Formats: sequence, C-alpha cells, structure tokens
Amino acid sequence: MSTANTTRDQTADRLLRSTAARSYDPELEINWSAPLRDGAWCIPEHRCSLYGTPLWDGLTQAQRFDLSRHAAASVAGLGIWLEMILMRMLTRLAGSGDVTSGRVQYALTEVAEECRHTIMFARLIETLGTPAYHPGPVISALGRLFSARASGPAMWAAILLGEEITDRFQREMADDASIQPLVRMVNRIHIIEEARHIGFAREELRRAVERTSAGQMLVHRYFIARLGYIIARNLVNPQVYRAAGLDPRTAHRAALANLLHRETIRFGGEKIMTFLGDQGLVGPPGMFWWRRSFLL
Ligand SMILES: [Fe+2]
Ligand SMILES: [Fe+2]
Repeated sequence: MSTANTTRDQTADRLLRSTAARSYDPELEINWSAPLRDGAWCIPEHRCSLYGTPLWDGLTQAQRFDLSRHAAASVAGLGIWLEMILMRMLTRLAGSGDVTSGRVQYALTEVAEECRHTIMFARLIETLGTPAYHPGPVISALGRLFSARASGPAMWAAILLGEEITDRFQREMADDASIQPLVRMVNRIHIIEEARHIGFAREELRRAVERTSAGQMLVHRYFIARLGYIIARNLVNPQVYRAAGLDPRTAHRAALANLLHRETIRFGGEKIMTFLGDQGLVGPPGMFWWRRSFLL
C-alpha cells in the first residue's frame, strides 16, 4: 500500500472512530411533538433576505416571523436536494473502491449520516408547516446529471459548497437565543456531524487537485463556479415571499438588489471560497458565475 493510501486510510479510521463515539439519531434526540415557540426567528432577523429594504419595513412583525420560518424551510429544502446529490456521489465512490479500505467504509458511513440528515430536514419542514421548497425541474435535472458524472475536484468542491455554506449559517444560529429551539437543535446535530464530512472532503479535494492537469482544472473551475451560483441562488426560493403576501418576482428582485442579502451570501461562502481559492479552483473561466453568485 502506498504512503498516500496509508495516510488516507488513517484519516478515515480516525473519522470512523469519531463517528462511533459521537453521532446522533434525530428521531430520538429531538422532541418532534413539542410546539413551536411563539415570537422566535427560524433564521436570524438580519439574515432575512429582505431585511433592510422598504418591503421589510412594510411588513408586520408576524409576517416577518412567517417569512423567516419559510426561509428556514427553503434552506432545508435546498439541503435535502444537496444531500441527495452527495449521497449518490459517495455511493458511486464506494461502489468503485475497495470495501475493505477505511476510505470506502467512511464514505458509506457518511452516506448513512446524510440519509438521517435528509429525514431530519424533511421532518423540520413538516413541523415548520410550510411547503416543501425545492429547486425547479431544470436545476433538479442538472443535479441528477452532475451526481451521475462528477469526479475529482468538481465533485469534492460541490460537496464542500453544500456543506460549508449551510454550516456557516447554522453555527451562527446555534447559540442565538432568539432562534426557534427546534431549529437550533437540528443545527447542533448537523454541525457536529458535518465537521467530519468537511474534514474528509477537504482532504480528498486537495488530493484530487494534485492529480488534475492544468487543462482539466479549467473545466473543474467552470463547473464549480456554475454550481456555486446555483446553490447561492436557491438558498431562498422566491415562493417563500408568498407567506408574507408579497409577489414572489418583485420580492425576489428586491432581495437580489439588497446589499445586506448579498453580504449574507458572501458570509455563507467566506470559508469555502478561501479554501477553494487556495486550491486554485476560483478563477477563469468561472468568474462570470462567481461574481453573479455574490459568494465572492
Ligand atoms: Fe448533512
Ligand atoms: Fe455532510
């Protein structure tokens, strides 16, 4: 066995031990029948996409709480879509590898955790009492294609964009007493388990970049930027604005023009963008999409 494979399996073994010591079953850990607390935000007020706009000023406090509840459901819906893509990619990786290796066993362990996360987000949406927001049919089709084909840096970057952007928002909320207790509990479980996934994917991405030629890097940079844009644009499903009686198109346009909302997206991407930049994965020919995404 090569030295690279030895360290790779050592990392996987450490992650497997950590999983055995600290993982959660949301069905048992969360009291799903507890009523939602009145007057609590489901995402922080300053992270609401319309916060700071005249449209926001025109809403009642109850409408603002409703909007934050639907916004949280929208992020959870996007999370489910991303987890499904991730599970398909990790299953492909496991299927083509050596099942006796720590790396493949960890990939399967991660699939098991993501499967629980998907159900946890689904139950969260159900409990929040909102529609199950989901990216549209075109984006869904692109996701299916990507999850069937992606490999190397683009695959790991896709996993990390999905995990690290949501992680950043969840960490900000975990200790915020103004946030709905159920949302904080879901976030806490996700943060702990995602820390392992992020560590695994970052290490895999570094290795993948080393094996990728300069010419191939151009292709990866393009697909990663395209995906970054899709994730950023689908954090807030325009249909959420209906919950506050607003026209989705008008409100969506106002949110995209809102500098505070752009700053929220940049905040979400701050850590992963620095990492991707260090790995040479942010650059031409992807810059058009990165600029439009507000992640930079
Ligand atoms: Fe997850
Ligand atoms: Fe994950």
